[in-house]
Amino acid sequence: MIQVKNPPEQPITFLGKQQQGGGYGKQPGRYDAYLTEVGPGTPCGEMMRRYWHPVGLSATTTDQPQKVRILGEDLILFRNKKGRPGLLHNRCCHRGTTLYYGRVEEDGIRCCYHGWLFGVDGTCHDQACEPGGGQHRDKARQPWYPVEERYGLVFAYMGPLDRKPPLPRYDILENLSPDEKLEQEGKSFYIGGGTSAEQPLAPYSWLQNFENVVDPFHVVILHSRFSGIQFREQLGVMPQVDWEPLDHGVAVKSIRELESQRYRRITQTLLPNVRIVPSIELTPGKGREVAWLVPVDDHHHRSFGVARVGVNEEPVYTRRSRIATHEGKTWWEMSEDEHQRFPDDFEAQSGQGSIPFHSEEHLATTDKGVVMLRRMLSRQIKAVQEGGDPLGAEPGEDRLIVVQAGNYFE
Ligand code: FES
Ligand SMILES: [Fe+2]
Repeated sequence: MIQVKNPPEQPITFLGKQQQGGGYGKQPGRYDAYLTEVGPGTPCGEMMRRYWHPVGLSATTTDQPQKVRILGEDLILFRNKKGRPGLLHNRCCHRGTTLYYGRVEEDGIRCCYHGWLFGVDGTCHDQACEPGGGQHRDKARQPWYPVEERYGLVFAYMGPLDRKPPLPRYDILENLSPDEKLEQEGKSFYIGGGTSAEQPLAPYSWLQNFENVVDPFHVVILHSRFSGIQFREQLGVMPQVDWEPLDHGVAVKSIRELESQRYRRITQTLLPNVRIVPSIELTPGKGREVAWLVPVDDHHHRSFGVARVGVNEEPVYTRRSRIATHEGKTWWEMSEDEHQRFPDDFEAQSGQGSIPFHSEEHLATTDKGVVMLRRMLSRQIKAVQEGGDPLGAEPGEDRLIVVQAGNYFE
């Protein structure tokens, strides 16, 4: 019988020393909370709250209250009977039931429990069971956020009211001709599927989707070689890439020498989470879509997009889901086996985890855009911590963004 020494000469620890790169002893991974956590009071969350974010589509913002979760806060979006949208905190400031069960009236939303009525700016107009409709009702104000509608989306500003910047305009979404219109989406994932009307949330952080925009090499590998041609053949040519600061973001300039011409593709990000990607069908000219990767909470995000289209064109978001196909099947029609063998953006990004472990990354030369974007975001977070305004969110005059993203053939 073997005698086991007891107690051991060395105390047993959960993790030993990692040797020769083996898995044993590996330290637990850590993510960069400074850059990813978005709740109230977090460094990144405070920076995010200095910009406008879409929270719903105008067309579906009605007198039926909707639950909206954004930046880790649970809110209720509705449109009063006069047509004005409102965004209030979920829990009634009387005794805390949800306004989801409230009823929308001419001037606001009435809580189901004791009938307090709140306007779109949170003002309490009536306390139905209090004498005289509530003699102290001016003391109760439901937490609220300013909202504005533009391009068929409802945008909210969740930061300090005295620092509210103007809601930006984008040249590519302005001055439509009579045969053009704007098309909106608020539930479909980027290009490769992954979410649906029933499940609009992507189960991972907004940051990894945002970083994907400045990562042009995944277009060559993931979308063109690994999984076959998911967009267009020309995108499989390895590009010469430059990343540059542009406006308040990072632009990616990818040049491809094609057989008969030079193809210059510019993709643009705008802090903190706006993406302008030119057509994946390689339509020449400026991009025609602006999209926002909106943090729902630390581990979920959703996208909202607006595209400029011809009035008789097939809806662009439907068309796009048919472009990125595998043997004619859309992402939603593919089997698990096909998703495994022909992954797309959703698989690659959700595969990084709900927040990637940044401590385990090995960034290389082709990740320069990711590094630039993270540094730019960090600088804005720091600016807010020091009492300043982040780039692109300075209070003041109306602001028009002149987009440069596009497909240019020379
Ligand atoms: S909990 Fe809303 S009115 Fe009482
Ligand atoms: Fe992609």
